[in-house]
Amino acid sequence: MQEVIKIEGGKKLNGRIRVSGSKNATVALIPAAVLACGPVTIVGVPGIADVDSLSKILQILSVRVIEKDDHLIIDPSEMRNVDLDDDVVTKLRASYYFMGALLGKYGYVRMKMPGGCYLGPRPIDLHIKGFEALGAKVDYDRGCYTIKAAHLRGTKIFLDIASVGATINIMMAAVYAEGRTVIENAAREPEIIDVATMLNKMGARIRGAGTNVITIDGVDYLGGCFHEIIPDRIETGTFVIMAAAAAEEMTVENVIPKHIESLTMKLQEMGADLDIGIDSITVRRSRRLMRAVDITTKPYPGFATDLQQPLTTLLTQAGGTSLVTDTIYKERFKHCMELQRMGADIEIRNGSAMINGPTRLYGDKVTATDLRCGASLVIAGLIADGVTEIHDIYHIDRGYDRIDEKLKAVGARIRREFTD
Ligand code: EPU
Repeated sequence: MQEVIKIEGGKKLNGRIRVSGSKNATVALIPAAVLACGPVTIVGVPGIADVDSLSKILQILSVRVIEKDDHLIIDPSEMRNVDLDDDVVTKLRASYYFMGALLGKYGYVRMKMPGGCYLGPRPIDLHIKGFEALGAKVDYDRGCYTIKAAHLRGTKIFLDIASVGATINIMMAAVYAEGRTVIENAAREPEIIDVATMLNKMGARIRGAGTNVITIDGVDYLGGCFHEIIPDRIETGTFVIMAAAAAEEMTVENVIPKHIESLTMKLQEMGADLDIGIDSITVRRSRRLMRAVDITTKPYPGFATDLQQPLTTLLTQAGGTSLVTDTIYKERFKHCMELQRMGADIEIRNGSAMINGPTRLYGDKVTATDLRCGASLVIAGLIADGVTEIHDIYHIDRGYDRIDEKLKAVGARIRREFTD
C-alpha cells in the first residue's frame, strides 16, 4: 500500500493561501541551534517530513525537543555527541549541517553520507575543503565521514562555487573558531541571512551574510534565543505559478516579494496579471494566452533552480517555444518525462528543456521523482483534463507543508488515498 495524491483538474482556484516558514532555512536553523548552550525557540517551523527527520537526529544526540504548533524549542544543554549512523541521516541532504555544527561545537563529528533528492551529482567537496581550511582532518570510509580538529582556527576560504550548503556549513563550523574566518564568493541566498541572524542572536559575530563576503569572528559562548523563520520563497513561487496556471483570483500571503523578483518579473513578461503588495501577491486570471519565455537558473538573486520545475508546467500553457536551462543542476529535468506523459511537448537537450506550447494536459498516473518535480505535477494536475494520480508523494511531503489541505481551502479537488 502506498499513499498517492489524486487531483481532478479544471477547477478554478479562488481565495487566500498562506506560505509557511522556509524549508531550506529551517533545515539549517535546527542543526545551528545545537551550537547554543541553552534553549533555542524557533517559530514558523513548517510541518514537513524533513523537520521530523532532523528532530529524530536531535533526539539521537540527546537534545530535548519540544514541538508546539509551529514552535520548536531545542534545548541542547544535555547533548551528547554520538555517531550519526542512523538511516535517518540519509533521508535528507540537510543532515550535512550537523557536520558544521558538531565540528564547531565539539571538534569532532562522525556521520553517514547525507541523502536527499537526486538532481544529478551533488558533491560536498567545498564543505570538506572549508572544514580542512579551518584545521580539521576529514576521513571518508564506507559511507561514513569522520571529521576532527584539536583546534579550529579562522582563515580565508574562497568557494569555487557559491554553494548555499557550503557557505552555511562553514559559517557554523567557524563560530567558535579562534580568530577571524572570511568566506569569499559566499552564496547570497536569503536563507543564509536567516541562519546568520539566528546565530548572531545566539551571540555569534557574523557580518556580510547576503553579500559574497562573509566574516565570522570566533566567540567563546553562544546562548539560547528566539527566532522567527523567513517565509519560504520557493513555496511562495510555487503558489504564484499555480495561481497563474489555475486561479480565477488568488492571494498568496506571508511573502517577501523581493525574494522572488526573478520569478515575478518572468511571469509579468509572460503576461501574468500580478498585484505585488508588501507581504502578499495577488494573481488574477490572465484573459490572453501567455507568452513563452526563456529561463536560465542562477544562484540568488538569479532565477532559482527550485522554481524551474514548477515553472515548466506553466510554460506548457504559453504560446511559443520556451527554453529552460539549469546551470545549477544540469540533470534536473525528470519532471519533463512525467509532464510528457500528461501531453506536454518537451524536448531535453544538453542541460536544457525546450517546451512547445500551448498543449492540453491529460490526467495520468505520474511519479514525483523529487520534491520540486512533485510540485510541478500538482500544478499539472490542477489544469489537466481528468484525474491525475501522483505517486511517491513522500518527496512532496518532505518540503511542502500540508499542500493538499492548503489547496483544498482555495477550491482544488485534491485528496490523498492509499492504493496498491
Ligand atoms: N556543489 C559542488 N560542491 C559542493 C557543494 C555544491 O560542486 O561542495 C555544486 C552543486 O552540485 C550544485 C551547486 O554547487 O551544482 C550549488 O549547490 P548548493 O551547494 O548551493 O546546493 P545545496 O546547498 O546542496 C540548496 C538547497 C537546494 C537548492 C540549492 C540551490 C537546501 C537544503 N537545499 O542545496 O534545494 O536547489 O541550494 O539553490 O538548502 C530544494 O529545496 O528542492 C532543493 C534541492
